[in-house]
Amino acid sequence: MPQNIRIAPSILSADFAILGEEVRAIDKAGADYIHIDVMDGHFVPNLTIGPLVVKALRPHSSKIFDVHLMISPVDLFLKDFADAGADIITIHPEAGAHTHRTLQTIKALGKKAGVALNPATPVSAIAHVMDLVDLVLIMTVNPGFGGQSFIPLLDKIRTAKAMIAATGRAIDLEVDGGITPVTARDVITAGADVLVAGTAVFKGGPAQYASAIAALRG
Ligand code: DX5
Ligand code: ZN
Repeated sequence: MPQNIRIAPSILSADFAILGEEVRAIDKAGADYIHIDVMDGHFVPNLTIGPLVVKALRPHSSKIFDVHLMISPVDLFLKDFADAGADIITIHPEAGAHTHRTLQTIKALGKKAGVALNPATPVSAIAHVMDLVDLVLIMTVNPGFGGQSFIPLLDKIRTAKAMIAATGRAIDLEVDGGITPVTARDVITAGADVLVAGTAVFKGGPAQYASAIAALRG
């Protein structure tokens, strides 16, 4: 099956003073998903966006809201993000002891469930929850900030791809962190379907959003 590459600009690198406008701009520029990084200053060393902001952004785009939760505990907030308009809710197994239960809760809320792995976490950590998962996110930076250098975990991406293929289910393989037109080529070759990019999309300003997104498609 040919890869269907989707680009998910991370609004962490957008201008927060005009976030609605920025979401409309990346939507128009060809973004497939809108990637929203939620950080709690505890699981990761940064504070960003809560459900109120997701709700406020929802009317600005009908694209898929890909909400990446880097928060601990996470279960208390799943319903809030679902109600705010998240389409995919991705959680970290490193952030809590009960990944299976958390994924079940996301599915029960009627949302797609994603599981994100920090660079040091092996793909085997999710072997027993693959039946609950719609998206696997391989972090190629340590989560917390945009603009970090890509960690070349290409073997890990290939391993995740093989694990997904073995399920026979339609599970997206997303890669997040340090994605540029150069690293995009490598992760697509390794099997990624969805590429998250903050700096690479936003750094040139709105006039260049469309060309920046196009450059990532390989
Ligand atoms: C990192 C976030 C990423 C980040 C990517 O913790 O999960 O989504 O915004 O930013 P870049 O593309 O600048 O590495
Ligand atoms: Zn992210």
